[in-house]
Amino acid sequence: MNITKEGVKVMKLADLPKQIGKEVMINGKSIALFHLTNGDVRAVLNSCPHKNGPLAEGIVSGEFVFCPLHDWKISLVTGEVQKPDNGCVETFDTQIIDEYIYVTV
Ligand code: FES
Repeated sequence: MNITKEGVKVMKLADLPKQIGKEVMINGKSIALFHLTNGDVRAVLNSCPHKNGPLAEGIVSGEFVFCPLHDWKISLVTGEVQKPDNGCVETFDTQIIDEYIYVTV
């Protein structure tokens, strides 16, 4: 793994299909990466604030992911759980540089 001031170089953008979450391990943390339909790349902790569901396996709709365990709807922009549920998942900055995804953990 290649660490720069931009963050950790994770993978090629072209290798991350849109709307399919992918788990990556960075500094011992399980991170869920998402390539949204608008082209943005988002990274959140791969652990639902409810009962640690693996968010990388959730269904993506727009800027939201639905947890695969109990269907909580979570913003991939702010990390906030949408009503009527409550909570927040940690988010991480991402950058695309020369076609590669970098995540700051
Ligand atoms: S663990 Fe995610 S909704 Fe329950």
